[in-house]
Amino acid sequence: MSVATPETTTANLVEVKNLKKWFPIRGGILSRVVANVKAVNDVSFAVKKGEVVGLVGESGSGKTTVGRTILRLIEPTDGSIYFDGQEITHLPKNQLRAYRRKMQIIFQDPFASLNPRMTVGDIIAEPLVIHNLEGSAQARNERVAELLELVGLNPDHMRRYPHEFSGGQRQRIGIARALAVRPEFIVADEPVSALDVSIQAQVVNLLQDLKEQLGLTILFIAHDLAVVEYISDRVAVMYLGKIMELAPSRDLYLKPRHPYTEALLSAIPTPDPTVKRERIVLQGDIPSPINPPSGCVFRTRCRYAIAECAYTVPELKEVAPGHFKACIRDDIPGLS
Ligand SMILES: Nc1ncnc2c1ncn2[C@@H]1O[C@H](COP(=O)(O)OP(=O)(O)OP(=O)(O)O)[C@@H](O)[C@H]1O
Ligand SMILES: [Mg+2]
Repeated sequence: MSVATPETTTANLVEVKNLKKWFPIRGGILSRVVANVKAVNDVSFAVKKGEVVGLVGESGSGKTTVGRTILRLIEPTDGSIYFDGQEITHLPKNQLRAYRRKMQIIFQDPFASLNPRMTVGDIIAEPLVIHNLEGSAQARNERVAELLELVGLNPDHMRRYPHEFSGGQRQRIGIARALAVRPEFIVADEPVSALDVSIQAQVVNLLQDLKEQLGLTILFIAHDLAVVEYISDRVAVMYLGKIMELAPSRDLYLKPRHPYTEALLSAIPTPDPTVKRERIVLQGDIPSPINPPSGCVFRTRCRYAIAECAYTVPELKEVAPGHFKACIRDDIPGLS
C-alpha cells in the first residue's frame, strides 16, 4: 500500500496524477498493436471532499474514459489514482471491493441503463445485494422506500417496471440505485443529456440537493458548459484527452482564459443582455485521438495559434489563484 505524497492531502477525496488511457488498436494477422487511441493523455486534477467538479468538452474528448478509469472500471495505461489519500491505481480486485462501494456511477441514458425486466425495487436493491448490505428482504425494502423518497418518487413505485416512468423519473431511479450503498463519490456521466431540456434542471437541482444533504462528492460530466455552471464548484475543460482549463466555476464563466473555453462559452446565450459575447465558431472537426496534433492539441482549431504552438506542449499552469490553463500564450487580449 502506498503512502500519500505531501500534495495528496485527504482534503482531496479523489485525485488523479498524469493519468493516461490509451486504447490499443490491433491489426494484421499477428494482431499487433498498430496504433493507440489516446483517449486520456496526461490528466491531473483532484476533487475535494464535498465538492462538485464539472468535466466538460466535446464528444470524444475523453470525459467518460476519465470517469470510468477513476472508478477502475477500465485499467489506466499510466499515471495514478488516489481515493481518500490511498493509491488505488493497481489495487487487486479483492481489495478494490470496499472502494467499489464508495464510488458509484450515474449513467447518461436512463432508458438503456435500467433492466426492463426488473421491478424498480429490485433495480435499486441490486447493489445492496451485491455488496451484502441490509441483509433481510424487509430491511432492503425499507431502504428502497427511503431511497425513492429521497429522489422525489413515491415509495409505492418500487413494484413497477422502468417502462412505466418518464425519462426524468427513470434518471431519479438511476440516482437512487447509485445512492443505495451510501457512496462517498459519484461519477455522474452526462446524467441529463438524454433528457428534455425542461426536465434537465430538475434533475440537476436534485443532484445539488442530494450533494448538500448527503455530503456527496461528485464528478459531473457534461458536453455543455451551461449544464454544469450552477452545480459545479470548479470546472475542468477537456479537449482531445487533455485538460485545457480548470478554474472555480464562476471565474471560468466570467473570465475564461483559454481559447477553447472562450469558444465553448461563446456558444451559450447569456441571460444578461448587457453581456455581449462574440460567437466563435470552431473551424473543422476535432482531430483524431490516434494521431493528435503535435505541441498543443488544440492549435489546429485555435485562432490565436502561433508557430511555437506546434512544438511546445503547454503545461496546465496556475495563471490566477486556483485558475489553471494549458496555453503558452499569455498575451492574448481578453484571455490573459
Ligand atoms: N473501448 C474503447 N476502445 C477504443 N477506443 C475507445 C474506447 N472507449 C473510448 N474510446 C475512444 O476514446 C476517445 C474518448 O472517448 P470518451 O468516450 O471518453 O469521450 P467522451 O468525452 O466521453 O465523449 P462523449 O461526449 O461522446 O461521451 C474517443 O475517441 C473514443 O472513440
Ligand atoms: Mg462520454
